[in-house]
Amino acid sequence: MSSTTSATPAGATHGTTTVVTNIATLVTNDPSLGDGSPLGLIHDAAVVIDGDRVAWTGESSKAPATDNRVDAGGRAVIPGFVDSHSHLVFAGDRTEEFNARMSGRAYSAGGIRTTVAATRAATDAELEATLTRYLAEALRQGTTTLETKSGYGLTVEDESRALRIAAAHTDEVTYLGAHIVPPDHAEDPAAYVALVTGEMLDACAPYARWIDVFCEKGAFDGDQARAILTAGRARGLHPRVHANQLTYGPGVQLAVELDAASADHCTHLTDQDVDALANSSTVATLLPGAEFSTRAEWPDARRLLDAGVTVALSTDCNPGSSFTSSVPFCIALAVRDMRMTPDEALWSATAGGARALRRDDVGRLSPGAYADLAVLDAPSHVHLAYRPGVPLVSEVWRRGRRAA
Ligand code: NIG
Ligand code: FE
Repeated sequence: MSSTTSATPAGATHGTTTVVTNIATLVTNDPSLGDGSPLGLIHDAAVVIDGDRVAWTGESSKAPATDNRVDAGGRAVIPGFVDSHSHLVFAGDRTEEFNARMSGRAYSAGGIRTTVAATRAATDAELEATLTRYLAEALRQGTTTLETKSGYGLTVEDESRALRIAAAHTDEVTYLGAHIVPPDHAEDPAAYVALVTGEMLDACAPYARWIDVFCEKGAFDGDQARAILTAGRARGLHPRVHANQLTYGPGVQLAVELDAASADHCTHLTDQDVDALANSSTVATLLPGAEFSTRAEWPDARRLLDAGVTVALSTDCNPGSSFTSSVPFCIALAVRDMRMTPDEALWSATAGGARALRRDDVGRLSPGAYADLAVLDAPSHVHLAYRPGVPLVSEVWRRGRRAA
């Protein structure tokens, strides 16, 4: 982008104002703007940024005077991706497991134990270095808001340090002490649930906004999950659930019952599960990187969308089931294999992720939102699916500043 300073200083403003002009297609995610679609598309558009927020969006020719002017050169601008599901506080490597899986072995929740052992053995500095490496990798690919969680410590000390490290780098932190029952409690899962809802919760709650449970065969059943999420809620943590990933089960119904912000995975759903989601404010977060990397059946996004469910799209970035930090890759998969339109996939990866985190200050580019945006080396957002695997994100702005 070329940048020049205009002669006209802005009027009454909160910070330095900058207009980004010559945007071929601007996705605002505000249906009251532009073409009136859910994406609120504006062609030949401009965005005015005031400090860290969006102050104005509209046609370039109508843009107000600002301190600075930046030319987008006919590229598309979209809201920064809101990746509402990742597991980035980890150590170690599961290349062998992936290699074996691609040679025919099935995925199971048990692989998590490998990462738990490596994570417990790592230093704080090693965990922080890994987290910041993947946060930076995600940012370069357009992700400006990223949730991450514990779940590879599974002791009071290891879970709380994971969350302390995460909280130093993102506001969206989730306590997942209930990822699996660790080997040291294999003989007494009830004692582990008591730990997760007791001493571990006390140590973790100060660092987290959310509480999550892997509700699945081989992890936690519906009653255990309800007890854990209810205890977290009593401590001010809001529920989200790993639900119906590997098998049909009670996770989605429980998520709706507890008004969880999101039910994540949603790969195996009954009609009752779809109905429950459609009549709730729980978002269905789809994670196609996991199905890709475990050679599993795709979640049926079309069925959810047609039923009126709010759908988010995220990476699930973790070393076991989905080692991608790329939201554009997930968009391409969702369009090709989950029957989402390019518009729906873009919405789900931005505004949908914001809904899954119950945020309205990110995931859109209209006045009042944070100025978090990605500039694509393409004339429209459709190219994210049309040109799969091509690094189209050419600039990222976060809080009104160039970040990548
Ligand atoms: O979301 N489903 C549970 N947790 C992760 C997998 C974690 C792992 O295999 O290490 C997921 O896919
Ligand atoms: Fe996950």
